[in-house]
Amino acid sequence: MSAEVWLVTGGLGFIGSNFVRMALRERPDISIVNLDAVTYAANPANLADVMHDLRYSFVKGDIADERAVADLLAHRPFDVIVNFAAETHVDRSILDADAFLRTDVLGTYVLLKAARKANVRRFLQVSTDEVYGHVPTGASNEDAPIAPRSPYAASKAGGDLQVLAYAATFDLPALITRGSNTYGPYQYPEKFIPLFITNLIDDWPVPLYGDGLQVRDWLHVEDHARGILAVLERGENGQIYNLGGDNSRTNLEVTQRLVELCERSFETHVRHVTDRPGHDRRYALDCTKARAIGWSPQHDFASGIVDTVRWYRENEAWWRPLKLGAFADYYETQYSKRGTH
Ligand code: DAU
Repeated sequence: MSAEVWLVTGGLGFIGSNFVRMALRERPDISIVNLDAVTYAANPANLADVMHDLRYSFVKGDIADERAVADLLAHRPFDVIVNFAAETHVDRSILDADAFLRTDVLGTYVLLKAARKANVRRFLQVSTDEVYGHVPTGASNEDAPIAPRSPYAASKAGGDLQVLAYAATFDLPALITRGSNTYGPYQYPEKFIPLFITNLIDDWPVPLYGDGLQVRDWLHVEDHARGILAVLERGENGQIYNLGGDNSRTNLEVTQRLVELCERSFETHVRHVTDRPGHDRRYALDCTKARAIGWSPQHDFASGIVDTVRWYRENEAWWRPLKLGAFADYYETQYSKRGTH
């Protein structure tokens, strides 16, 4: 019998599935229950390799469904809750933010209430550097004011504030991680890097927003998952920990590299299209706190991006079905009316 049971929400998503795989590998003493609503971005194939692990089980459910969450926690005691479940795509939040408010704010609140009742040992909220908003110079540390500028970022900030309120008011042993832009295997192809790789593999153009000089700090998903595990194990309750990749690049630089790696030409394959409304120009994180508990990113972007392109080339059977049906409709809505920059 395993010593601890961890509830991981959103474990069929990109970062969640990488975390579940890593935690099962590195912590033979735990078992994991994955609560996931199986929304469009979730994919059971992300965890096909752990499906038969006796320490892993799956429950379909929505974190914003109070009764479902209460039933699950009444049925089984959990020592730890890690909340990955979220709507995460900025462009979708600009089209319609209802699901973002429901999952990222209300869902987090429902889980916090349940966690308090269940007396968990740890509650970890997986958040984002986007809550700090645009960072013109320097880097945000965890004391920087939050200034979210997209409906997505505002929803994540709302969730974070509830977590901090529960820690302060009820002494809930809660922590928050704020990760930077994450890339690597199993990322749903609506996001910049997998969208561009899969389009380029298919000899399609790629839509670069505005001048492409926006800066993002790229964190490999294994480093992100390892950072969350480190904070869970060694972080201090009530604290926030930034997890940045230490790999800042403009979108233009990343696009140029992806075009090269996919053996296409910039002139024929890159379209500068109308910018995202309210597009944050730059994110940058100060990760001194996470480094002080022994975490630092291990993947260098130069090799990480080569490996990632290779992974998408070798795993077409994983992503091809994802780009059909509802995705094709979304792509049409998101991109067909975008003019040229
Ligand atoms: O910073 C952490 C955040 O990173 C996470 O909290 C979000 O969930 C995640 O989606 C990501 O947010 P971004 O908005 O930075 O990621 P996205 O992949 O949508 O875009 C990355 C950059 O590429 C951004 O500056 C917009 C640009 N972009 C994106 C798409 C989808 C394009 O130029 N063209 C595109 O088609």
